[in-house]
Amino acid sequence: MNVIVPPSMDKQRVLSGVQPTGNLHLGNYLGAIRNWVEVQDQYENYFCVVDLHAITAPHNPSTLAEDTYTIAALYLACGIDLNHSTIFVQSHISAHSELAWLLNCLTPINWLHDMIQFKEKAIKQGENVSMGLLDYPVLMAADILLYQADKVPVGEDQKQHLELTRDIVDRFNHQFGGGQAILKRPNPMIRHEGARVMSLTDGTKKMSKSDPSELSRINLLDSPDEIQKKIKKCKTDPYRGLAFGVVDRPECHNLLTLYMVLSGQSREKVAAEGEDMGWGQFKPLLTDTIIEALRPIQSMYTQVRSEPTYLESVLTHGRERAEVLANKTLERVKEALGFSRPR
Ligand code: TYM
Repeated sequence: MNVIVPPSMDKQRVLSGVQPTGNLHLGNYLGAIRNWVEVQDQYENYFCVVDLHAITAPHNPSTLAEDTYTIAALYLACGIDLNHSTIFVQSHISAHSELAWLLNCLTPINWLHDMIQFKEKAIKQGENVSMGLLDYPVLMAADILLYQADKVPVGEDQKQHLELTRDIVDRFNHQFGGGQAILKRPNPMIRHEGARVMSLTDGTKKMSKSDPSELSRINLLDSPDEIQKKIKKCKTDPYRGLAFGVVDRPECHNLLTLYMVLSGQSREKVAAEGEDMGWGQFKPLLTDTIIEALRPIQSMYTQVRSEPTYLESVLTHGRERAEVLANKTLERVKEALGFSRPR
């Protein structure tokens, strides 16, 4: 495998990231990474592993670095192409933390208290809620703004964080821009199908890495046996005939959507196929479809991990490329805020 042709500089820029908290699941893949891959040749792309975000919940220091490598390798395995995209680790570029601090000082605290994801995660964390969890969206804004990204492909759950980022941009440019748009307003890129993959054990809850039940999600590195077991045990309903969008049948909608997206068939075709089907017939079909969709990703993952120096070189090169852009924006922001320069 070779490292890297520089992406063209006249394309619009994309930035996105995933936290290295455990394995990636089908929600991360369908809501985010698959979309990065599909449009990467149209943009100049930066994809980071957001390890600083991963410590906003209690974490295990002995697995953080390994988890970071796993996610970077999965980016490559899912089809991120270094001819179009740069892959790097957030904590390797100190400008992320520094810009987050600067933006903290102009972000009203009540904007952060209003974040849905903060409220949900804070409830789960109970007594242990850190400043970092509250500040999570400001660090995310820093990630995006350092690269002056035009588009940010994410799942639906990140929409509110993108709105906050845009509010921070407006506030910064208004207060410190002196008539110039120093920071660029990014646009979310959220695809309809797969933007919100639901849990396998409760079709009203989003599939999530933090769900204590492994049965609630399919991980990209699950073996065929694990996938079979999870689909066998997943929640369904007592009705015969499968259909999209029926009130009170959230599991049915979610599983049919997974089947549709992963098999690459149209909604109409899947709706017609499911019309007379029972769960006993559908579950093996879905199981096979998931296994087949993940097979090439898993085999590429094994190949990437078998060459550790290759992954190292991808991340080193990625850091070097990304750092140039990040530092440039950071300097402009510091200048606008009136900081002295070291002499
Ligand atoms: P994370 O790791 O929680 O999620 C990574 C991506 O996966 C999407 N996602 C889902 N999409 C559909 N259905 C689901 N059940 C599902 N669960 C997760 C998320 O929307 C996300 O796109 N805050 C970000 C990480 C981040 C980031 C950034 C993203 C940090 N800085 C800058 C974009 C730009 C997050 O949610 O990570």
